[in-house]
Amino acid sequence: MSQSTPRNVAVVGATGVVGRTMLQVLLERDFPIAELRLLASGRSAGRTVEAGDRTIEIREATAEAFEGIDIALFSAGADTSRELAPQAAARGATVIDNSSAWRMDPNVPLVVSQVNPEDLEGHEGIIANPNCSTMQLAPVLMALRDAVGIERVVVDTYQSVSGTGADAIAELEEQIHAHVAGEEKHARVYPHPIAFNALPEIDVFLENGYTKEEWKIVTESRKILHLPELRISCTAVRVPVFVSHSEAVHVETTAAITPDRARRLFGSVAGVVVHDDPATHAYPLATTAAGRDEVFVGRVRQDPSVPDGRGIAFWVVSDNLRKGAATNAVEVAEALVERGWVEAAGRRGASRAPVEAPA
Ligand SMILES: NC(=O)c1ccc[n+]([C@@H]2O[C@H](COP(=O)([O-])OP(=O)(O)OC[C@H]3O[C@@H](n4cnc5c(N)ncnc54)[C@H](OP(=O)(O)O)[C@@H]3O)[C@@H](O)[C@H]2O)c1
Repeated sequence: MSQSTPRNVAVVGATGVVGRTMLQVLLERDFPIAELRLLASGRSAGRTVEAGDRTIEIREATAEAFEGIDIALFSAGADTSRELAPQAAARGATVIDNSSAWRMDPNVPLVVSQVNPEDLEGHEGIIANPNCSTMQLAPVLMALRDAVGIERVVVDTYQSVSGTGADAIAELEEQIHAHVAGEEKHARVYPHPIAFNALPEIDVFLENGYTKEEWKIVTESRKILHLPELRISCTAVRVPVFVSHSEAVHVETTAAITPDRARRLFGSVAGVVVHDDPATHAYPLATTAAGRDEVFVGRVRQDPSVPDGRGIAFWVVSDNLRKGAATNAVEVAEALVERGWVEAAGRRGASRAPVEAPA
């Protein structure tokens, strides 16, 4: 198949916040699609969705629903991915999965499009999209890794409610209305009211005292950057922001680095924009990153707590639904198409045209 051959694409979780963004990004980027199959739970089966000039009926995500699909973008939670991704792959689809189900599987590539696309080559039908907080961190850490080396990273996140999904967006809205009306704020999705609050608990607590979200940032960063021994720590905080995650990052580098050099390094990474002029109060904001595909970096400064000019501190913001999820998944799909790696490595070998015997 050539690069422009339209593919049969499925979006699993098409009614969700990420799934709807995936649909939007596929259409915006003109991804070559033959059939677009929208899948969700049985609750949504039969509903219709407008996708460009097509009206598409939602189907229930079952193993059979992947028959004939080339690329399946999953964003329907880890349980659904664990059950259905292998079945989709067994039917010949290549799965790009947004959940945490497969990310740390040593046989599954975990890919940020501008950081480690070469890891896609050997995929066996399932590819993992990193956690949204890891996603925006990896391209800027890559720039430091390649130029001056990284010894240690400390990252604290300020994560929006859309990272939890549609229910959490509704909960923040309800609590804001309740506050304005002088009523009690009820929490269903989070353990405490999220409106006018900051919750240092994202995902479940682990035995080591970290939350699972914090530990995802630790383990996923090491895998993506190919730095298995990287010293990295994180505190992940949910804040009452609708879209975009922000991160305060402190990096101890191997060689000295200045803020000017760091800005140049960050600005040279595809998809990274430096927005850094304290004199005019210019720095990345959640509201300006929302709806954009880039990772924004600012507040770049020397960290004087690290000796010999080897400490650098900065602020990273990105739209968690776009680069943090949907855009990266579509970029991975584009990379597979461009490189001729859509089919699983085993199938590419098996399906190669037979070599003609010399006459
Ligand atoms: N939000 C983010 O920033 C973000 C970033 C990266 C990764 N993710 C991951 O993406 C996934 C979805 O997140 P979201 O924010 O889009 O959540 P969401 O808004 O709650 O949407 C969940 C989607 O999953 C579908 N679903 C639920 N159970 C299903 C089942 N048994 N079979 C098939 N489909 C099922 C839902 O379909 P119905 O409408 O039919 O229930 C809906 O389409 C999660 O794994 C999440 O961790 C989210």
